[in-house]
Amino acid sequence: MASRTPTIGGNWKMNLHLQDALDLATGLADAVTGAGVQVTVFPAFPYLMPVASVFANKHSPIRVGAQDCYHQPNGAFTGEVSLSMLQDVGCSVVLIGHSERRHVVGEADALINQKVHAALDAGFEVVLAIGELLEQREQGMTDFVNYGQVCLGLAGVSAEQMARVTIAYEPVWAIGTGKTATPEDAQQAHAAIRGCLKGIYNDETAQAVRIQYGGSMKPGNAGDLLAQPDIDGGLIGGASLKVEDFAAIIDAAAGVTA
Ligand code: PGA
Repeated sequence: MASRTPTIGGNWKMNLHLQDALDLATGLADAVTGAGVQVTVFPAFPYLMPVASVFANKHSPIRVGAQDCYHQPNGAFTGEVSLSMLQDVGCSVVLIGHSERRHVVGEADALINQKVHAALDAGFEVVLAIGELLEQREQGMTDFVNYGQVCLGLAGVSAEQMARVTIAYEPVWAIGTGKTATPEDAQQAHAAIRGCLKGIYNDETAQAVRIQYGGSMKPGNAGDLLAQPDIDGGLIGGASLKVEDFAAIIDAAAGVTA
């Protein structure tokens, strides 16, 4: 099996205000050594630079990523943020296609694909989030939905560019609900996604891509999820807002690789 460094993301979503974000970043910088695990936090846009400064001042290996981007370089796109602006504030990672972008804001796969290309062309690492709704799972469509989102999201992305892509599998019904996929169900979905990547690219590329699980991952369930062979990390929402919980999940990821 390919050895993939686990990657843990903290998606702060539209939470915290400046002082809370600074306090959380300071606590994480003190608690997380980052040994053996790549850690990225995704604060809201206004806090990207101050949070990045906390990590830089404390020589922390924790990286800062953006929760979204726009694919156009500049111009009349009120409310949007370009990739070069994100670069200016110290970002080199961007989350694209999160379920709240897809299902609350209404982003379609075609736009997500444009964003993926723009981010890769700008030299960013991309975390492409995918996942099925509850009714789709109940209809046995989980793999079908995931294949569609992978194929459409990555359309035209080369095997070389895949070295800068992480997939976040986040079943929508598990996000923020306290319901988690069982380790077996999650593993099955992750293995199917890897199989899909093998079909699009090749075995070597598919084995190298990291696939994170997201959806109510917490200290209590992280170890069992992360122990699955095709689960290479987590994208954490609620539990990433508490230093102890997020640090415990990072420790669980480090324990799996140790
Ligand atoms: P959750 O969110 O951990 O609160 O379920 C995960 C996510 O949306 O990335």
